[in-house]
Amino acid sequence: MAKAYNDVIDFTLGDPDVQTHQAIKDAGCAAIQQGKTRYSQNAGLIELRQTISEYYNRTDNISVDPQSEIIVTVGAMEGLFLSLLSILDPLDEVIIPAPYYVNYVQMVSLCHGVPVIVDNPNAEELSFSISDIEKAITPRTKAIIINTPSNPSGKIIASNKIKAIAEIAQRHNLVVISDEVYKCLIYDDFKFSSIVNIDGMRERTILINSLSKEFCMTGWRIGYVIAPKEVIATMTKLQENVCACAPLPSQYAAIEALSGNGRYSENMVNIFTNRRNVLFNGISKIDGLRCSIPEATFYLMVDISSTGMSSEEFAVALLQEEHVAVVPGIAYGNSCDKYIRIAFTLEEEKIREGINRINRFMNNIKK
Ligand SMILES: Cc1ncc(COP(=O)(O)O)c(C=O)c1O
Repeated sequence: MAKAYNDVIDFTLGDPDVQTHQAIKDAGCAAIQQGKTRYSQNAGLIELRQTISEYYNRTDNISVDPQSEIIVTVGAMEGLFLSLLSILDPLDEVIIPAPYYVNYVQMVSLCHGVPVIVDNPNAEELSFSISDIEKAITPRTKAIIINTPSNPSGKIIASNKIKAIAEIAQRHNLVVISDEVYKCLIYDDFKFSSIVNIDGMRERTILINSLSKEFCMTGWRIGYVIAPKEVIATMTKLQENVCACAPLPSQYAAIEALSGNGRYSENMVNIFTNRRNVLFNGISKIDGLRCSIPEATFYLMVDISSTGMSSEEFAVALLQEEHVAVVPGIAYGNSCDKYIRIAFTLEEEKIREGINRINRFMNNIKK
């Protein structure tokens, strides 16, 4: 629908408008010019896996064997997909707490598993309750997928909840798939610690990460998975059948990005902190809208319940009347139907224009 207008403020995309750093682009171009244009090993270049291992050692104090515990994938998405394909038997159940990243549900189904969505409108706002997760467990439960910091909530799952999930996973012998692609984009003094750091979790955690958000490299399609060696071995076999390997020039660009010791991504947090503040301050002043400040990511969930509209009705009307595109919250679970998601992946001027239009839209509703 948005394509029908030529002046849309598009707040839908989780795809930052910031350019990949020139040094990373140069590394990718140099690889192409030097003829590094063929397949790599299925698990990815060993130099890249070594760089990922050093990076995790530096940033998270985790020691990972590059040979057996890492695979490079075509974005985090292929990492998620191969993880599920590796661990699921048909009809195995996977618990997905809401709000969730939409693709998890379809990916589980594509692997012939059963997505079990934990989505309770009475749970903590934009989060889930541990007792609901416990209740969802059956003898067929194989895994839980968590995403922290979360798309779309912009929140970091509280450490007591992470501990409780770890305890449940150990008690019921479950795998935890932890999607951490936004751990690079945390604001203020908020803190994040991966579930993999909890005692007894290393052997049952599949950690998913990517260069897409941290280095603004969505189109380069490089992600990676850190997991126990049995899982990585299976994923590596499947990689051969699915796409052979991640694109080789992008793998060379990724080595440059990850070995930059933070210098290629340090600006990201500043840029997005500023945009988050502009958006949050603007939206919170609009009568009838409610939101809390994102702790991380580039998403703001806005409570539109005062309008009495469903999230889809709101999003369609906002697009038709003001040419502003947002994602209806229903995409992230039924309990999110009272929200819209705004991605602040646009420059400040467009964000300000979007706020003005949303303000006018809300004023017109009241008339
Ligand atoms: C939670 C989450 N996981 C994974 C992805 C996909 O990342 P990639 O580009 O690395 O495939 C996204 C992209 O928006 C995301 O929001």
